[in-house]
Amino acid sequence: MKRYLIAGNWKMNGQSVGNADLLAAITPHLPASSQVDVAVCVPAPYLAQVQQVCQGTPMQWGAQDVSAHEAGAYTGEVSADMLSDFKTRYVLVGHSERRQYHGETSAVVAAKAQRALAKGITPIVCVGETLQEREAGQTNEVVKRQLAAVIQQVAHCVSELVVAYEPVWAIGTGRTASPEQAQLVHALLRAQLRAASAHAERIRILYGGSMNASNAASLLAQPDIDGGLIGGASLKPKDFLAIVAAALAQ
Ligand code: PGA
Repeated sequence: MKRYLIAGNWKMNGQSVGNADLLAAITPHLPASSQVDVAVCVPAPYLAQVQQVCQGTPMQWGAQDVSAHEAGAYTGEVSADMLSDFKTRYVLVGHSERRQYHGETSAVVAAKAQRALAKGITPIVCVGETLQEREAGQTNEVVKRQLAAVIQQVAHCVSELVVAYEPVWAIGTGRTASPEQAQLVHALLRAQLRAASAHAERIRILYGGSMNASNAASLLAQPDIDGGLIGGASLKPKDFLAIVAAALAQ
């Protein structure tokens, strides 16, 4: 049986008081279930807060980025060591907003994934095509290339990854990939992981991009969709809990 992962991505939203309210509205309602893992990926300054509020509850936590460097003169960067001080379980790497607005290349993303793994933090490796790439028929090639860079870098640790397929055109737009569209890409990524790891079946491939309370069940029902990376809906307790419930009901 699949063990789903439903991970919220708060992006650059929230402050202490609002975070506390949001977590208070979600955490007590999470099932203590072995079938679904639930996490929130928060801005780095709030890792201490989420650690304090969430430890001892079923809610896991993660960060949204990590430096590709180990330590030193990299002003503004946050290292994997620093994340592990707050018992950070996951870190997003290669989110399209980082690739798009911060010029992160697949090589940088791969280095970040490697840094996280070296400190026992699970990288959630985000891949996805733009609308232009989809319309040009390049979806498969783009996502394969993005994932290949990470696979090559992390070598024997491939099975420790979480992968998130996030079509850029579906992020924050209210336009979701249909379950069939998403499954096609997930199957492709699974095949790529299979070629690199004997444990590819247990690698979780999340879908992200306008997943919400009403479309979650049909997306999560797909054979190669093992969870969701949830942006906007992770800031709405009812919606986020509904997505968790949809995973539980599979
Ligand atoms: P969205 O964001 O759910 O708001 O589309 C998903 C993401 O960017 O991780």
